[in-house]
Amino acid sequence: MKTRSLVSIDDLTTAEIMKILDLAAEFEKEPIQDILRGRVVATLFFEPSTRTRLSFESAVNKLGGNVIGFTDSSSSSVTKGETLNDTIRTVNNYADLIVMRHPIEGSARYASEISTVPVINAGDGANQHPTQTLLDLYSILKTQGTLDKLNICMVGDLKYGRTVHSLLMAMSRWKTSFNFVAPEELMMPDEYKLYLRNLGLTYYETSNLTEVINMADIIYMTRVQRERFSDPMEYEKVKNAYVLHENMLGETKQGMKILHPLPRVNEINTDVDANTKAYYFEQALNGVFTRQAIITTLLGLK
Ligand code: CP
Repeated sequence: MKTRSLVSIDDLTTAEIMKILDLAAEFEKEPIQDILRGRVVATLFFEPSTRTRLSFESAVNKLGGNVIGFTDSSSSSVTKGETLNDTIRTVNNYADLIVMRHPIEGSARYASEISTVPVINAGDGANQHPTQTLLDLYSILKTQGTLDKLNICMVGDLKYGRTVHSLLMAMSRWKTSFNFVAPEELMMPDEYKLYLRNLGLTYYETSNLTEVINMADIIYMTRVQRERFSDPMEYEKVKNAYVLHENMLGETKQGMKILHPLPRVNEINTDVDANTKAYYFEQALNGVFTRQAIITTLLGLK
């Protein structure tokens, strides 16, 4: 396979997604391998991250590769006025692969068009987060035994949440039925609802979580993202819209799992953490194996 970038989940065919999920399962069984010896991966994070950056770095380290990069644009020459174009062209001299998070939508596509090495989008504004989606798919497949015809209840910030946008596009391939639970101000944008309608898929919108919680195979909780609001008063109005408590899970399906890309603020009470339906920390672990699969696939090594 040739090397290639991953900017949107739609850059991958369904067969390619399934191959990455199969590979992730192989890496879960045998995470320490010597596949990336002599290779350098650059992690360029223009926005904060814990899981995405550290799980990518863990994935590279476990495969014998090396990591360079920055965790904050203030420690790069961007603060001196360097353009993204010049940054990417420079890092091309030092790395075999770039993992980039950037606040501007479309920045990852732009970087991939300039770069001479593959670029992985680690989140571009409210747009896409395809590697999160692949680890979400891996988590869903592992816990449900299938991706087919599931009911997914997405809760919280569906307007600015790039993880739900990517996951919606991916899960639409498997005839998913969606329940969208959000306050009026944070409903799923029209473009994603149109995407589903064009595929003949159904969705239901409500602001009442209890109305749909018991139908769910997966509850996908999200954080209301303070950093996406230009008006702090608007954030204050919706920041506590949904808080999942353990006592809300009593009538939910037995095999249902709660996912969250994390970080959480208060949208999942800590009394849920010990419930067998809570899966968000295992989901974060799955990120290492999935990213091992993504890196080796994009570099044409698997
Ligand atoms: N899920 C996720 O993107 O988490 P981080 O922001 O910590 O990378």
